[in-house]
Amino acid sequence: MRMFLYILTILGLLTTTLSHVTFTNLKCSSKDVKFVNFTKCYIKAVNRTHKYVDIYSNLFQTPVDNVTLTLKFMRHDHGYKPFFIDVTFNACKFLKNQKHPLIKLLYDTYKDSSNINHTCPYNHDIIVDHLWTGNIDSNFGKYMPMLNGDYAIFTEWSAYNIVRAVVNVYIRISDRQN
Ligand SMILES: *[C@@H]1O[C@H](CO)[C@@H](O)[C@H](O)[C@H]1NC(C)=O
Ligand SMILES: *[C@@H]1O[C@H](CO)[C@@H](O)[C@H](O)[C@H]1NC(C)=O
Ligand SMILES: *[C@@H]1O[C@H](CO)[C@@H](O)[C@H](O)[C@H]1NC(C)=O
Ligand SMILES: *[C@@H]1O[C@H](CO)[C@@H](O)[C@H](O)[C@H]1NC(C)=O
Repeated sequence: MRMFLYILTILGLLTTTLSHVTFTNLKCSSKDVKFVNFTKCYIKAVNRTHKYVDIYSNLFQTPVDNVTLTLKFMRHDHGYKPFFIDVTFNACKFLKNQKHPLIKLLYDTYKDSSNINHTCPYNHDIIVDHLWTGNIDSNFGKYMPMLNGDYAIFTEWSAYNIVRAVVNVYIRISDRQN
């Protein structure tokens, strides 16, 4: 894993000076409406350069102390195809020890803008409030060897081994900012 990240970092350094990351879309859907729903899920552009993400998710069966998260990186090539990373992990365990470096990077990007930033159990609605995407852009570039194109991160949230929600983030890598 460490070697893998090391290689990603080097490739990332070679490519990031040339590329720019834009968040193009965000989709949230409940797979179990008795467990969770979404009342907010969008990326809002304030002006040409600044965008933020808002999510509001109601949890109906709290407390939740058993969460499994699957992350799949996808690249668009006649449809979204798996690309590089496909991991499933125990999210409650991660929140306790924060050991996995790539997941830690993702976690660090939203932890100051969300109330998901504590250890399990969760006994409240889940909020991501004005997560500005500019900082994420620059952090991602350090790790991912990305060629220009459309990518997505598909996330699948399970509780007690049942898939409850899917949140997909869509991004575009291009040569310059626009
Ligand atoms: C989600 O649940 C809340 C709280 O029960 C309800 O007010 C809202 O209408 C629901 N929204 C959707 C989109 O189902
Ligand atoms: C865009 O909006 C952000 C946040 O409100 C602000 O800080 C920034 O100066 C704005 N940029 C332009 C070019 O207006
Ligand atoms: C969690 O986010 C809140 C703001 O939503 C922030 O005040 C708090 O410091 C964060 N906690 C951690 C552990 O990052
Ligand atoms: C989570 O819940 C599932 C289903 O009840 C169970 O099989 C699994 O052992 C639980 N995991 C943890 C870490 O408690």
